Amino acid sequence: MRLVVIIIQILSLFTFSSSESTKHSDISYNKVSKERMNFTELSRECGVYAEEFEVVTEDGYILTLFHIPGKKKPVLLVHGIGDTSNTWVLRGNKSLAIALVREGYDVWAGNIRGNRYGRKHVNLNPDTDETFWDFSFHQVGLFDWPAMIDRVLKETKQTKLNAIAHSQGTTSFFVLSTLKPEYNEKVELLIALAPVAFLDHIGPGMASIAKLGPLIAKVLKTLRINEIFADGNADKKLMESFCTLGKLTEKICTIFPLGIITGINPDGIESEFIPLLFSQYFAGISRKTLEHYNQMYFSGKFAQFDYGPSNNLLVYGKIAPPEYDLSKVRTKTAILYGENDMMATVEDVQRLGRLLPNLVCIKAIKDEKWTHIDFTWGREAYKYLFGHIIELLNKNGR
Ligand SMILES: *[C@@H]1O[C@H](CO)[C@@H](O)[C@H](O)[C@H]1NC(C)=O
Ligand SMILES: *[C@@H]1O[C@H](CO)[C@@H](O)[C@H](O)[C@H]1NC(C)=O
Repeated sequence: MRLVVIIIQILSLFTFSSSESTKHSDISYNKVSKERMNFTELSRECGVYAEEFEVVTEDGYILTLFHIPGKKKPVLLVHGIGDTSNTWVLRGNKSLAIALVREGYDVWAGNIRGNRYGRKHVNLNPDTDETFWDFSFHQVGLFDWPAMIDRVLKETKQTKLNAIAHSQGTTSFFVLSTLKPEYNEKVELLIALAPVAFLDHIGPGMASIAKLGPLIAKVLKTLRINEIFADGNADKKLMESFCTLGKLTEKICTIFPLGIITGINPDGIESEFIPLLFSQYFAGISRKTLEHYNQMYFSGKFAQFDYGPSNNLLVYGKIAPPEYDLSKVRTKTAILYGENDMMATVEDVQRLGRLLPNLVCIKAIKDEKWTHIDFTWGREAYKYLFGHIIELLNKNGR
């Protein structure tokens, strides 16, 4: 029970953070000038100029889509859970979006509902309307992906684009391509970084949290907390709460919470990068997203949200939620995974690969310590990852 209390406390720190001022405001990360920069500003640091678009989804969410023009075919980048488009430009000239621009690609960086760039709706208020938060990766796949894809195609006057997605970005893509199969025609190639459709083999750190998931969800529901890991000063609170627990170094106390979940790679992210990372990361997650992933862990199935037998009957006309039929994913898919990834594990990723009918490549990154977060933030991503991506785009993309 003590563990539960601690976890709840940590979760609530994230949630109730933004308005209160921080006491330890003299800690070094406050000096990082890039900490609140947006995508456009981060790109400009590299001498690259981005445009901004607002797209409105069929169900009324307003999302910011960033564009860095290039002469080659469009590539749409979709981030993972709790993240934003900024993840693709955070390492300056050694970031994926910038590398693609230098290769001549027309780069589009999307954002999903609920994050810093998607906390807006035509008539729902995220601060007061609970229904705003009534979504998981299911709605991201059904509504956010189509809105972004259609806008990119319209702006570029193309019929197809290439997509690169990380983690939850892949989960939601598989929702899209199984439930709205016409979108398979609009996406020539999906490069799936650390894809997640099964969570049977997640590491012990994540598994112990997942086992407490239903209890945590119940408490959060009772407290009517729908938005978790909100954007704002949450990062600072997180760092403070962990770093004041014991006499741990800055590196350990910041790497640890993520590392225990995603896999520990001591060389993956240098301590100098941590402040910038945590000033940008955790930009809003819905409780329902975590619940939905939690159900996947318990069921071993890639299925729609489980509302319980009687409500499932009302929603789906069946007692059990329908599974997403991966055999319907016609888009060419290339999978890149990390052998030390505790979230998208080798076993789960290979099971996914076997089920995808149009798999063009499945490859482990040539660094056996590679984890879930090295795909976006790894110090050496430019060395181990970008080459594969550019090769895949040239060979299998449009
Ligand atoms: C990003 O920053 C630029 C420059 O400060 C500003 O003009 C723009 O409105 C910002 N965009 C978003 C989506 O925050
Ligand atoms: C990135 O590279 C460009 C072009 O080589 C250069 O002008 C710019 O100063 C670099 N930016 C950073 C932040 O290193």
